[in-house]
Amino acid sequence: MKFLQLALFILLTHTISFAEEGMLIPSVIQAFESDMKAKGMKLTAQDIYDVNNSSLKDAVLHFGGGCTAELVSDKGLLLTNHHCGYSQIQSHSSLEKDYLKNGFWAKNYSDELPNPGLFVARMVRIDDVTETVNFGVRDEMSNEEKVAKMKENMKVLIEDAEKGNGYKAEIKAFNYGNDFYIIVKEIFNDVRLVGTPPNSIGKFGGDTDNWVWPRHTGDFSVFRVYSGTDNKPADFSESNVPYAPIHFLPIAMTPRKIGDFTMVYGFPGTTEQHLVSSQIKYIMDKERPARIGMREKSLSVIDAGMRSSDQIRIQYSAKQARIANAYKKWIGQVGGLTELDAVRVKEEYEAKYNERAQKKPEWAVKYGSLVAEMKETMKKGQQYDFAYAMAVEYIFTGPEMLRLARSYSNIMDNYDKLVETSLLEEEIEKLDKGLDGFFKNYDVGVDRQIFELLTDEYLEQMNGIGLPNMLTTTSASALTKSIYNKSFLVDIEDAKNALKKVNKRAIKKWGRDPGIMLYRQLMQKFEEETIPGVREFQGRMDGILKVYVEGKQEMFPDAKHWADANGTMRITYGQLEGSAPNDGMEYTDHTTTAGILQKHATGNPDFDLLPDLIETYKKKDFGPYAQDGELWVCFTGSNHTTGGNSGSPVIDANGNLMGLNFDRSWESTMSDYMFDPNRCRNITVDIRYVLWVMDKYAGATHLVKEMKLVN
Ligand code: ARG
Ligand code: GLU
Repeated sequence: MKFLQLALFILLTHTISFAEEGMLIPSVIQAFESDMKAKGMKLTAQDIYDVNNSSLKDAVLHFGGGCTAELVSDKGLLLTNHHCGYSQIQSHSSLEKDYLKNGFWAKNYSDELPNPGLFVARMVRIDDVTETVNFGVRDEMSNEEKVAKMKENMKVLIEDAEKGNGYKAEIKAFNYGNDFYIIVKEIFNDVRLVGTPPNSIGKFGGDTDNWVWPRHTGDFSVFRVYSGTDNKPADFSESNVPYAPIHFLPIAMTPRKIGDFTMVYGFPGTTEQHLVSSQIKYIMDKERPARIGMREKSLSVIDAGMRSSDQIRIQYSAKQARIANAYKKWIGQVGGLTELDAVRVKEEYEAKYNERAQKKPEWAVKYGSLVAEMKETMKKGQQYDFAYAMAVEYIFTGPEMLRLARSYSNIMDNYDKLVETSLLEEEIEKLDKGLDGFFKNYDVGVDRQIFELLTDEYLEQMNGIGLPNMLTTTSASALTKSIYNKSFLVDIEDAKNALKKVNKRAIKKWGRDPGIMLYRQLMQKFEEETIPGVREFQGRMDGILKVYVEGKQEMFPDAKHWADANGTMRITYGQLEGSAPNDGMEYTDHTTTAGILQKHATGNPDFDLLPDLIETYKKKDFGPYAQDGELWVCFTGSNHTTGGNSGSPVIDANGNLMGLNFDRSWESTMSDYMFDPNRCRNITVDIRYVLWVMDKYAGATHLVKEMKLVN
């Protein structure tokens, strides 16, 4: 009987998911309170978001503008993912102090490492200001007049919000301009590295496991927010003190089970749920495959280089991770969209939309031709969108020689102005300093190979359209020789020498450097053809989308509507659960340390472990962190997340921290376009594993003591 009950329970939880699609705006969470409570939540809407009293939102920070982090002690202790703190960890690492390989743990405040440029932001308030933004905007105005009026209104709102408080405010469009919210933030610039596990924990599984379940990655790192002695943000200073937060998250030490309520609170970057069917088709058939092809080439070179030398491994680790991450996600997305038959699903919805529009004459006028218009716009804009994507891959993600060329080219463009304003020297000094940082992580052999392979691939993809002279008149291999043998950009001495005496003549000479020449030719095409095309295409598309979304809300009032992610703070909720994404395939909801040793035994270098770690896992000294004698490493949940949600707290029914979100499963990455409650699972590293690593492996017990553990 017991077995039957269990079987039934598993069956039920696997087939009927309580997953909620959508990323909700915290300040309107009240509307979802009763549904969240029905799913097990014990908190009130005010516990989650409150402007006047401390609430969960005050513990959730935007980390470096791209990730999420959470405060976990009254002394500003901050947790985020290992991959979010990765470039900081790398910047403090060297062959002698290999923090990537061995980890790092500050023993006390004075050991904590400052990170120039890194900032975290607390959201002070998020308010709907749609009416004020649109105040005085009338139908009979031209588009320019409307925009000018709105800009004027926004300026007043922002000035008002920033007056006398040191806050930063911005206004963001939601639902493609149907709604506007003001976001007021408090920005902290002194954020120090407190600890990181070794790569063999924090990046365990590497690219093999990235975007994949089952997962065993301890993807966390530890920082601390510092403030002035008045507890207000301050630039880095020795005299700063640990920040005392308005709220910090207690740690959920309670045993977990399938069906537990989960909520993810963070800063999702981008979703595009409203794309028209033909655009989904283009993404699946053309854009993604082309970008995947470019990255495959870079990665083949970088991976081989990193395997061949420790120096290159350290130099390229952050770059490699960045390139590989999107590369693999895209492959998963195309697969997921294919599996969902996304183009057909979209087409069916579009047919329904058109049909509904015929129900009322005013709907027919306003909404009746939008789908066709989107398809038409798509057809015209595609070539620019594609050229843009390929430029991102080639000029901005490809050979780094081109990135350095950009710095010199900027000085060339602004030479007269810089001389006039006496800023030339300063600019040159800045570039000169930048060169040390650049070449610290540069290997000319690696870059040369990347250049040759990518140039070839770029030529093939662009198929003769929008190419600069240098690429149509020279072969990739000849160009490689000329640039990598002659350009001053690929050698630190030469690059520095070029800065010794910068005058009109020198600038002319720079202009004859083959690397700089190529960069400038590429940018000319980019700025004169691609960008204007993309702007026009995007502008038209956004204009249509605004009305299209309005139509969805008006004509389908009973459907669930939510605003696409746009880098602002959001909440999503669901439950702890596994999935059965494909026929004959079933994923359990959590993993344990046993799996780490199993994966290690395969011999794949992505599962390398430091020798002392193997011993530690084998000892099974899990202390208070165990559940039924095992230590959970990761678990999955049905929460709708995307890039930017990395590091987000996964919060339980009582407002305590269960773990850190860090990924999605391979089968769910298409949720950026189309969410499927039965497949889409976010991946979380269990906070009990995080604490165990600190306490039992790293001996950083003082950090665990700083937190508030709740049983
Ligand atoms: N896929 C996760 C994200 O999008 C984790 C990336 C870091 N891990 C890695 N192996 N590159 O950011
Ligand atoms: N790893 C992602 C990030 O950096 C989160 C995973 C996702 O895209 O869902 O934000």
